[in-house]
Amino acid sequence: MKKEYKFPENFFWGTATSAVQSEGRVSGDQKGMDIWDYSSKEYNHRFYHGITTEQVSGFYRDYREDIKKASDISLNSFRTSISWARLIPNGVGEINPEAITFYKNVFTELREKGLSVFVNLYHFDMPMALQKEGGFENKNTIEAYKNYAETCFDLFGDLVDYWFTFNEPMIPAEAGYLHDRHYPYVVDFKRAAQVLHNIVVSHCEAVRVFRKKKRNNQIGIIMDVLPVYPRSSHPADMEAARMADLFYTRSLNEVILKGEYPVELIEILTEYNQLPPQVSKEELALIKATKIDLLGINYYQPRRVKAKECLVNPNGVFMPENFFDPYIMPGRRMNTSRGIEIYPKGIYDIAINIKKLYGDIPWFVSENGIGIQDEEAFIRDGIVQDDYRIEFLTEHLQWLHKAMKEGVNCKGYHMWTFVDCWSWINTFKNRYGFYRLNLETGEKTLKKSGIWFKEVIENNGFEV
Ligand code: FCB
Repeated sequence: MKKEYKFPENFFWGTATSAVQSEGRVSGDQKGMDIWDYSSKEYNHRFYHGITTEQVSGFYRDYREDIKKASDISLNSFRTSISWARLIPNGVGEINPEAITFYKNVFTELREKGLSVFVNLYHFDMPMALQKEGGFENKNTIEAYKNYAETCFDLFGDLVDYWFTFNEPMIPAEAGYLHDRHYPYVVDFKRAAQVLHNIVVSHCEAVRVFRKKKRNNQIGIIMDVLPVYPRSSHPADMEAARMADLFYTRSLNEVILKGEYPVELIEILTEYNQLPPQVSKEELALIKATKIDLLGINYYQPRRVKAKECLVNPNGVFMPENFFDPYIMPGRRMNTSRGIEIYPKGIYDIAINIKKLYGDIPWFVSENGIGIQDEEAFIRDGIVQDDYRIEFLTEHLQWLHKAMKEGVNCKGYHMWTFVDCWSWINTFKNRYGFYRLNLETGEKTLKKSGIWFKEVIENNGFEV
């Protein structure tokens, strides 16, 4: 017997991408350099096959055809981001007229095709001119970001349905200042904590400016959540899970959604002398007063942890991982291309947790998807037969549906991503899109999953 999974009327069905990962450059576009343009050239060996941000998937050039492709598969909503360095090449000051035209055209085109426009202001892409001054470590960047946000609200406010201040605000701090993955490749907890705090304040400043405009569209933020699972119910494993959750989830969720950093986190950071040095009373009051309208949740994988096997080097670098070890669970289902676990129930656990911990805030799945290496191996009759992607999305949607039946306030589902795009570090190694990008010819062709998703949208659900 087949079971029907129906979603509510007006559910957002869409895809997400970002400026750096999709736009690329054309000559005369007057875009300023951001940290990805810089690091993918200067630290080229850190990027898979040395592919830089120059070309990516050509959205700057092809946006009209691309948006037609989005509408061909019946998407009703579409997220991308504005590149700060494209709009304001030096991060502050002069605005690039080419960028105004481009973004106006993109948003207008989306609306004309009947797609709601979801726009994120910051997707890991600090303008290089500001990074040279310390990026988000420098308090002046908060002001610069606020002005950039205000410029966007003024220029594009009539064309955008939902604004987001940041995508995954933890990542620039964690990947850029703690785990040596993103430029500026710093390893220093205290500096990472300062970056995170300044990002939080920037978010609040943007929301404050937005509220002053009294627009009737909405504003929110997009967070990545890795639900935490302990190896066992042994108290030591449970404690490890609690710490992982405190450092990586509650640290940000509570400050954004409840207006305060967790007291316990502050106590630990005080004990280890890791508190960010520059936090003012005014900033904390602003954080407390800031409320968002819509929360986006990116979900890719769970975080399994266990109690530490070894004592921590007392002279080592302070890390959240000093309090837990990752747990490699025997028999876990893997996406071997990315080396991450596939765990569809995670989306259900996140949904239930949001309701339990953060009230009935409206939210949506802002990213979920699967990146696969060597996808050309699955091409038959000219189409990528990505049944694994259909299976992945179906299972996640089934769990989401179950949570919604239990009353969670989820408004939609966006898949990462629309056309195969460039990834941070991995460039084009793993493919995520509903459309395949042929890197040699630039051709974009629909995959089997795209045909499937179109049907899901048209039926507002599916049967399995
Ligand atoms: C997320 C990022 C997004 C994309 C996917 C695969 O963490 O938000 O830009 O790279 O991962």
